Amino acid sequence: MYLLQHQYLILIILLIIIQTTAAFWWSLGLPSFQSWSSTQKNQEPFCSSLTFLTADQRYYCQTNPKIFSIISRSLRQAIEECQYQFRNQRWNCSIFNQSDVFGKLVLRKTPETAFIYALTSASVMHSIAKACAKGELTECGCDKSQQPSFSPSASLMRTRAMLKYPISSTPSMSISLFASTPMPQTNDGFEWGGCSDDLKFGRNVSVSFIDEQESYMSRRRIVRLVNLHNNEAGRQAVERNVQLTCKCHGVSGSCTLRVCWRTLPDFRLIGSELRTKYASATQVRLNRRLSLLKPRKTSMKLFNTTDLIYIHNSPSFCEKNLRLGSLGTQGRECNLTMNEPGSCSVLCCDRGYETIIRTIEEDCECQFHWCCEVRCKRCIKRVEKHYCK
Ligand SMILES: *[C@@H]1O[C@H](CO)[C@@H](O)[C@H](O)[C@H]1NC(C)=O
Ligand SMILES: *[C@@H]1O[C@H](CO)[C@@H](O)[C@H](O)[C@H]1NC(C)=O
Ligand SMILES: *[C@@H]1O[C@H](CO)[C@@H](O)[C@H](O)[C@H]1NC(C)=O
Ligand SMILES: *[C@@H]1O[C@H](CO)[C@@H](O)[C@H](O)[C@H]1NC(C)=O
Ligand SMILES: *[C@@H]1O[C@H](CO)[C@@H](O)[C@H](O)[C@H]1NC(C)=O
Repeated sequence: MYLLQHQYLILIILLIIIQTTAAFWWSLGLPSFQSWSSTQKNQEPFCSSLTFLTADQRYYCQTNPKIFSIISRSLRQAIEECQYQFRNQRWNCSIFNQSDVFGKLVLRKTPETAFIYALTSASVMHSIAKACAKGELTECGCDKSQQPSFSPSASLMRTRAMLKYPISSTPSMSISLFASTPMPQTNDGFEWGGCSDDLKFGRNVSVSFIDEQESYMSRRRIVRLVNLHNNEAGRQAVERNVQLTCKCHGVSGSCTLRVCWRTLPDFRLIGSELRTKYASATQVRLNRRLSLLKPRKTSMKLFNTTDLIYIHNSPSFCEKNLRLGSLGTQGRECNLTMNEPGSCSVLCCDRGYETIIRTIEEDCECQFHWCCEVRCKRCIKRVEKHYCK
């Protein structure tokens, strides 16, 4: 009897280990899951088959199918954005393979991993908040919280209370949400109306779907703290970029009454901002009492909750190295212009490049003839393309 229990325990431990080393929830952004999200039949077997999710996430999938399909959609958005932001870099955020989106890269906590965590948690929050306002979800709708007296600091307190772990390491904690967007706090000159994107609900989904799995996924405290910090930095980037959209009412465009609501911008803007944060990310370690994160060296830049942080330096990404999740840059198209992103000298890591000259036929000298026809000649054009050796 005792032995049996013992074996059972070992089995459970094994299962936990398998789960923590398996692929991550980002796999939901792969093309193979996108077709499913619209149909939503056979929810239960489908959710159970997603073995790369934690048990809680699979349960979430079963109980919140509509939200789950938007999470999956938002991951595709995040992966596309990541590839756009890094299109000219050695690491180009390419899909590693069909079962493992980013490969082993995400196991090392490099700046690239920090960017992935922040971007994906931001994307979930952004997509859910927008879906709420569009009426795609029954669980949420327009955000009414700012009417009539919305207080950012109160909302920040709630935000803090939601998080399980302390994430700040800087002494100053006085952070105001929406800091970079000067936004009237009173109804000065306008009235709240319309339908605001539901940031609070978006944040809730992002926290409950992503952050709450961290305790299962990361056994090391420092890794857990770094992941949670970067998830939060992503959500704060969303909050910083809220905009005010207004509509005028009044006799013949006089705008005697302005009605305004909060909207989130295109995700591109948030991606670009996080890309900037990536470039100035801070390397961290735990302090002596192992309770807080601090810059690895005293000379390093201090960071706050909006900044990205990492533990390991990036590999060069020059060569193919599956252990580091690097595909290498061989065969990448590059630019001859020096000092430009994607230049052959940087991208090819001094291995040199091959030039391929192609001739293409295209329309040229097009003229408009009255009426209504465009006539063109066909021209032969030479194009040079360069590829890393
Ligand atoms: C995907 O890559 C991982 C390594 O990160 C490997 O273990 C797995 O077998 C690969 N899967 C496929 C389908 O190639
Ligand atoms: C956080 O630090 C950045 C610089 O890394 C600074 O621009 C920003 O104002 C700071 N934000 C807060 C809320 O302290
Ligand atoms: C999200 O909202 C639900 C219901 O409103 C609540 O029970 C839950 O605690 C919230 N979760 C987080 C992480 O805020
Ligand atoms: C990224 O680089 C890899 C490896 O060189 C290449 O196979 C892939 O096509 C690139 N992806 C994008 C989106 O440019
Ligand atoms: C090369 O640089 C030009 C101009 O900066 C850019 O439009 C083009 O996309 C680049 N090509 C590649 C392959 O990166």
